[in-house]
Amino acid sequence: MTEDKKRGFAGGLTDYGDPDFAAYLRRSFARSMGYSDEMLGRPIVGITWTASGFNNCHRGVPELIEAVKRGVLAGGALPLDFPVTSLGEVYLNPTSLLYRNLMAMDVEEMIRAQPMDAVVLVGGCDKTLPALIMGAISAAKPAIVLATGPMSTGRHKGERLGACTDCRRFWAQYRAGIIDDKQIHEIEGNLATTQGTCAVMGTASTMAILAETLGLMLTGGAAVPAVHADRLRQAEASGLRAAGLVGSDLTFDRLITPASVENALRVLLAISGSTNAVVHLAAIFGRLGLELDPDLLNRISDETPVLVDLKPTGAHYMEDLHAAGGAPAVLRALRDSLHLDVCGVTGKTLGALLDESDPWVDPAVVRPLDDPISPQGGLVALSGSLAPKGAILKRAAASPDLFEREGRAVVFTSLDDLARRIDDPDLDVTPDDFLVLQNAGPLASGMPEAGYLPIPAKLARAGVKDMVRISDARMSGTAFGTIILHVSPEAALGGPLGLVKQGDRIRLSVAERRLDLLVAEDELARRRAAFQPPAGIDGTRGWRKLWRDHVLQAEQGCDLDILRAVSGKDRSA
Ligand code: FES
Ligand code: MG
Repeated sequence: MTEDKKRGFAGGLTDYGDPDFAAYLRRSFARSMGYSDEMLGRPIVGITWTASGFNNCHRGVPELIEAVKRGVLAGGALPLDFPVTSLGEVYLNPTSLLYRNLMAMDVEEMIRAQPMDAVVLVGGCDKTLPALIMGAISAAKPAIVLATGPMSTGRHKGERLGACTDCRRFWAQYRAGIIDDKQIHEIEGNLATTQGTCAVMGTASTMAILAETLGLMLTGGAAVPAVHADRLRQAEASGLRAAGLVGSDLTFDRLITPASVENALRVLLAISGSTNAVVHLAAIFGRLGLELDPDLLNRISDETPVLVDLKPTGAHYMEDLHAAGGAPAVLRALRDSLHLDVCGVTGKTLGALLDESDPWVDPAVVRPLDDPISPQGGLVALSGSLAPKGAILKRAAASPDLFEREGRAVVFTSLDDLARRIDDPDLDVTPDDFLVLQNAGPLASGMPEAGYLPIPAKLARAGVKDMVRISDARMSGTAFGTIILHVSPEAALGGPLGLVKQGDRIRLSVAERRLDLLVAEDELARRRAAFQPPAGIDGTRGWRKLWRDHVLQAEQGCDLDILRAVSGKDRSA
């Protein structure tokens, strides 16, 4: 077959049997969908359909897909949407992370199996952009990301509200008895009022900005609000570009490089992005056989100021970032420290794209380098005897007066134990203690966003707003507090976190990037010998068995070991 005949419905054929017969059969079935000869002769751009009744954030996907199709048709290709797993963050039990790799496998295999020449990856809610990107890296076909865009803010009695930092703020007030049942019900109705992803710098916004930084979407595509007409224009332009990508070698596995990785880390720190992004970046880079180096993260964190003033650490919302100039404004501010010769789906270098971008910026939302929100980046990687393989702290969302201290461990052995005892009036706890949650890591429970341990009710009522909290769990990107996450190895794997007992002393030093369990080695050896792993995720069959048998720890992005570093045969040569 000639190159052209390998495209469109004749593409992706198996190498057994009669390829001409197979192409003829495909075309005849495609004709049953009413396509003309002209359409059947075009290359195909697939479009991921990630809407579902369980995904409020993706409510706008059908309209976005219509706009993508206009662009694909204008570019001379045939647009065909296809369903993949839809992950609506708040509806997934026990946690959406458990399904990110499942979605990534679905995306990879459906791109590979079906005869598409390029693909538009439409998604946004939390785990969906990482899953789409991971799948597309491994499928190694030309692809472009289209984010659903962020929600717009709501109003309540003159106050602006956005999911989900304000959700947590008001819930904390409700727990502390400051607002009543009626008020919390009214607020519930005004937190999330439009389609689109969480309105603050949560995981969804962070990953959209990192996808733009990595060159995987069109310039400006991360921050346009979901309901803005520009979002539909982004969709149309993405479809047009996808048609232009047919036959090119601008595939994600080639576009993502150590230099673009470094850019992504720098931007993550400058936007004070979500801790979850560290897990997702590690998984994305792992697909290329690259490791995310915690020392690199700390070095970049120390030299990168926080420039973006968005909740949960600042004052504004994603719609304000869009109005202030979007991700390009952040990239321009960081310009001198970025690798500008990296290339993205447009085929242009980052430097060229920044030269083309509108230089206007609102300095109240995207601060200039000489007037940052803080002189250092939002995240630090910790390690020490309690976290030999690392842990993460979002220092920008934490209380600096808790950074250098020793505390007594108040230990919860599971999520159930935490739920049962945290509000017990007899709980033996003081504001100076460290709350420790065990068995909330990937193997134990799919690594839920349980790291944001609530302040015990009796302390919350007494006005305590923050305490040191340590776990192997994750935390929502919209949350805040002195919260140490992703402790590795996890407790359920017999990591030191699993050996901590009530009353042990723990030392935190953010300055030294250390987290240490102050228990003698002989005592730890005794505990290790007596260690009994918890039951954890039921891994007897199906997807959960694959997860149990193959999931990696947080520092490797919780990907499955069988999905990392694809073989040369699978990569486009
Ligand atoms: Fe979808 Fe927050 S719930 S992004
Ligand atoms: Mg989230």
